[in-house]
Amino acid sequence: MAVEVTEKLQSIVERYKSGISSLIAVMQDISQEYGYLPEEVLQEVSKLIEVPISIFYSLATFYSSFRLEPIGKKHVCVCVGTACHVRGASQVVDTLERDLQIKPGETSKDGNFTLETVNCLGACALGPLITVNGEYFGKMDQKKVAKLSKTLRQEAKPAEESSEA
Ligand code: FES
Repeated sequence: MAVEVTEKLQSIVERYKSGISSLIAVMQDISQEYGYLPEEVLQEVSKLIEVPISIFYSLATFYSSFRLEPIGKKHVCVCVGTACHVRGASQVVDTLERDLQIKPGETSKDGNFTLETVNCLGACALGPLITVNGEYFGKMDQKKVAKLSKTLRQEAKPAEESSEA
């Protein structure tokens, strides 16, 4: 997917022209603007502020809050923290892997789903816990997960395809 280098990007770079010391702030702004760190944008900014692109990638891989790939339309997070783990989080992950055809850390080729695991979503009493685009689904078991992933797959279908069904 081509990413347009916008005026907004120019203004981000202008704001932080002081070089490497403000690199993380530049990357945070880019991430907020595009939803991730597009390669072509990093290359452009690298030239503009004269910081080697390898430094951008080092920071992007060190800080888990940065993404180098766009996120899917449905961002599915499964908590695998202790409280959720002892209540069966790994079976929840297995079911989602099977139903969405992706592994944790991956985005489906059609861009519909991103699956991630996290260590605690802060609502341990509801475990096993999933969030989908920030919405909480608690006390999940394999049956509930299968039903949820079926709903997500149906929502992801193009309008004309779902009206045929
Ligand atoms: S361990 Fe899952 S929400 Fe805290």
